[in-house]
Amino acid sequence: MIIFGIIAIFILAIVALLAITATRRTTQGRLSRETRSRDAAAHASSSSTELEATATAEGRARSEESQGAAAAGVPALRGETGVTTWTPADEEELGVSRRQFLNRANLSVIGIGTLPVFGVSLIAFLYPGKAGGFGAPINIGKISDIIDFITNNKQPFYAAQARTYVQLYPTDDNILQNAGSAYEGPDNVAAMGLDQGLVALFQTCPHLGCRVPWCASSQWFECPCHGSKYNKVGEKKDGPAPRGMDRFAIDTAGGNLTVLTGTRYQGPPIGTDTTGQKPEGPACV
Ligand code: FES
Repeated sequence: MIIFGIIAIFILAIVALLAITATRRTTQGRLSRETRSRDAAAHASSSSTELEATATAEGRARSEESQGAAAAGVPALRGETGVTTWTPADEEELGVSRRQFLNRANLSVIGIGTLPVFGVSLIAFLYPGKAGGFGAPINIGKISDIIDFITNNKQPFYAAQARTYVQLYPTDDNILQNAGSAYEGPDNVAAMGLDQGLVALFQTCPHLGCRVPWCASSQWFECPCHGSKYNKVGEKKDGPAPRGMDRFAIDTAGGNLTVLTGTRYQGPPIGTDTTGQKPEGPACV
């Protein structure tokens, strides 16, 4: 994601640079409207006959001068016979039109002001986790308080900042053994905290992304969008979802529960049922 952001900024900078270059190329060296109309008026006032006569007289004079100089052995100097010497055009005389000025001002404002601000915002948006938001480790409270809440209310503990439902996980040996096969090994079981009696479920339905609410009567998670259902530890029981609910790694250091929202495990495959929990009442969906 960060790489895409940097590439996008780079492309925008190149586009702005090309636009500035193109504008300068099309406007550089152009005469202003006043200068062009002055030239046209001056040109119209001289007739072609006068120009021809003047050119002939000047040519004759230069020829005579050259012949005389050659006879005297002295080289003729250019410029002494009325040939106009080139001098660079006056910048003020050429001038910059209002439209050119506004175009350049617009591009400068976009280039200098907007692009860096946009780039910094984009990187800040894409860069996860430094400020402790979703994508980073999030401390959601004391483990003992969380377990008390779940036990007393018969519902999962919801941590909005981590987009997570915390639920109790049975720690019987045979259930943990099943979990080892369903979650691809004891390392994953330990990382998810199942062996400590907890599981942190991502709130989003793996079907099309709705938030899955808890159904108090069935004691299952039931998605209102298309009817997918999951048992209390997020294993899929019904509906079109392709797997169980995704889950996060957790950290229990210091008696606090920290959800590592940057480390997410895909939900278990369809058919996984490590706890054997049946619906405990009427369905909500
Ligand atoms: S989004 Fe949950 S079942 Fe479709």
